[in-house]
Formats: sequence, C-alpha cells, structure tokens
Amino acid sequence: MLHTSSVRLISAIAAVGGLLFGYDTGVISGALLFIKETWTLTAFEQGWIVSSVLVGAILGAVLSGNLTDRLGRKKIIIITALAFFVGSLATALARSPLELMLYRGLIGFAIGIASYTVPLYISEIAPDDKRGALVSLNQLAITVGIVLSYLIDGVFAKVENGWRYMMGVGVVPALLLAVGMLLVPETPRWLISRGFIDKAKAALHKIYGDCDEIAEVNKIQKGMLHEEQGSFKELTARWLRPALIVGIGLMFIQQATGINTIIYYAPTIFQLSGFESEVSAISATVGIGVINVLMTLVSIRLLDRLGRKPLLYIGLYGMILSLVVLSGAFYFGNTAGEALKVVSLISLVVYVAAFAVSLGPICWLVISEIYPTQIRGLAMSVATVANWSFNLVVALTFLPLVEFFGTAYTFLGFAIIGIWALWFCKVKVPETKGRSLEEIENTWRQMSK
Ligand code: BGC
Repeated sequence: MLHTSSVRLISAIAAVGGLLFGYDTGVISGALLFIKETWTLTAFEQGWIVSSVLVGAILGAVLSGNLTDRLGRKKIIIITALAFFVGSLATALARSPLELMLYRGLIGFAIGIASYTVPLYISEIAPDDKRGALVSLNQLAITVGIVLSYLIDGVFAKVENGWRYMMGVGVVPALLLAVGMLLVPETPRWLISRGFIDKAKAALHKIYGDCDEIAEVNKIQKGMLHEEQGSFKELTARWLRPALIVGIGLMFIQQATGINTIIYYAPTIFQLSGFESEVSAISATVGIGVINVLMTLVSIRLLDRLGRKPLLYIGLYGMILSLVVLSGAFYFGNTAGEALKVVSLISLVVYVAAFAVSLGPICWLVISEIYPTQIRGLAMSVATVANWSFNLVVALTFLPLVEFFGTAYTFLGFAIIGIWALWFCKVKVPETKGRSLEEIENTWRQMSK
C-alpha cells in the first residue's frame, strides 16, 4: 500500500499549471471590454487578441510534444512556468495591439504545453486507484482559474487601464509554479524509460515515503517491456490506432459540444436572453463559473468509484437535454419573454454542471491513461493539438453561426454532436478505472490480435 499524502501535495503543485490555463483563457472575456477603450480596435483585431492564445496553444502542444519525452516532464513544466511569467508581464506592459496579440500568443504557447504536461506528470506519479482524482486536480485548478479571472476582472474593472492589472496578476501563480516544480521529483516512469534507475528509486522514495522501491521499479519496467522508442511510426502502428482515435475523438467531443461558447461568451448569451445590465450578466457568469468548480469537485469524488464511462453518459445526457431546452427557449424567444431568462439560466447551469462532472475532467484524464509510457508525451500532445484546434474552430465560427442560423439552431447543432458523442463513448472509449497504466496498454495489444 502506497502512502499518498505527499503525492497529493506534489500533484497540487503541478496543478497550478492548470490554474494558469484557466486564468489566462478566462481573463480575456472581461479584459477585452477595457482594451477596447485603450485602443480603437477593429473587430478583426479583437478577434485575434482572443484567438492568438488558441493559436499559441496549438503551437505549444505541437512543438513540445516529443520534448517532454526527451527532456522529461518536470523540466518542461518549469520552462512553461517561465513562459507564463514572461508572457503575463509582457501583456500587462504591451504598447500596441500587435504586441498584445503576440504576447498573448506566448501565453497561449505556455497553456498549450501545460494543458497536457500537467495531466501527464500527475498520471505518472499517481497510484492506480487514486489516479482519476489526482489527475483531475488539474481540471479543478482550471475551473478555479476561470472563476478567479472573472472575479479579478471585476476588481480591476473600475481602475484606469485595469486590463493591464488583470493580465499582470498571472505572474503570481507563474512564480508559484516555477518554485514549486523545482522542489518536486521527475516522474519515476520517465526516469526508468531513460535508464536512470537509481534516480527513479530516489523519486519513488520522495513521492511515497517508505515503499518497496525495487518492486515498484520492477513493476514499471515490466510494463514497458514491449515498448519501442516513441516515434510517430509507433504512434500510428495498427495496434495503437484505436487509442489515437479515442484521444482525438474525446477532444472533438469536449470542444464541439460548445463548452467554450459559454465560458468565453456567457455574458453575451445572458444579454441575448434578456439580462440587460452588464452587472447582472457578469454576476450570472460568475455563478456559472462557481457551478463549474463545485461540480468538478463532485466528479473528483466519483471518478475512481463509479468509473469514467458512467460519468461520461450522465454528463452527456445532461448536456444534450439542456442544449435542446436552451435551443427551444431561443426558438420561442419572442413569445417567451421573462420565461426565456429563467429557462436559459437554468439550462446553462445544468449544461455547465453536466460538462463539469464528465467531459471537463474525463477527456484530459483518459488521454493521460491510455498510451504506453514511451510515446505518452507524443500521443498526448497529438490529442492536445486536436483539443486546441477544435477549440479555435468553435471560437471562430460560433458568432458567425449564430448570425447565419440563429442561436436556436446553433445550440441544437451542439446537441446533435452530443448524441453522436454518446455512441462514441459507448463503443470506442475503454473503462480505465482502477487499472494500471500497463494493463490499459495491454488492452490495445489484445484488441489488435
Ligand atoms: C477545457 C476548456 C474549458 C474548461 C472549462 C477544460 O477541460 O479543455 O476548453 O474552457 O474545461 O472548465
């Protein structure tokens, strides 16, 4: 039996990377209103100030993919923290919209790396029966980061050039992450895969205190016996192809069911549904952010007990139902009046709650579990690139879709993707609860025989 108190602390330190992910993606929704007062921005420039983060994230996930396999997980998280630090400072001091866009791109770059390196790191240090909860600390941190960004946007809203402070606050968690990561060990799995057995034993001791280090090393080594050096060729090998499809498919589902239309545009949606004042729209948004945090906590409690797949079904049913109701509310909008306000608020709450117990944590968790150690970094980075690319497509097309088809049909479209997602999860996604990473790897081998 492994001791888990320090593994919790170490995971929480790494999860500060998730907090930065949430903070830096959320902060722009409020900051943009004030950036527009500093410079007169065209719609195109505004679009790019928002989307440059997503483009940076795609690049970050692409470029650092095999670096985490070559340099190790810990070093890469430290470099990411430094990029967050520099990026936050630079955006706060930006002298032109172009500079702001570029520095936001740098922050995006850091988010892209953090979004897969943190779950990767935690999944490799966590004991099998606690892995779901520990890896999902990252998602919890993302949701806390989002709420913090909404609140900090509120605090600096009345200050002159307040957006600079909103952006600059990011240096604090960036510093915490850099210092914290200096104190924690590299993952034993990565050390073993590179042949550093003594260092792996020392890391195991640091993570689990007194444990049978030799037995642990043997267990991990045994699991790696069949693995070849990680490369794209190995990643696309026939036996691993289903795992690749699961990773990319889950990321498609997470983004294409529309979560970030709510996270990035909630105040706009609330205004569309009749919350006239900005204050009421923003308060409702903070409420949504809090629900997101609370339901992620619920998910963390249930993941390792109920399993990943039952939670995916529950969440998807909730999301589909609320999207259909929301779509109906917008369809009958003109006749619904006051009722539209109430129905849209309730459906958004149910929608975000359902996402937070399921797709939010589980997609990141499953991609950290289903790949063999040697190519885990590379494979996760492919899935992460997919996540940010789908995110970008949805962010760029949401408002044009609303303009062209109307809000009702756009939400109905998300619901239809949700129905397809139910099929995908049932047929393609394996249950990973309580199984060791090495056992999961074997499933793919068996399937290909
Ligand atoms: C998603 C983000 C989303 C966040 C909301 C994450 O799992 O990847 O795109 O903004 O959840 O909580």
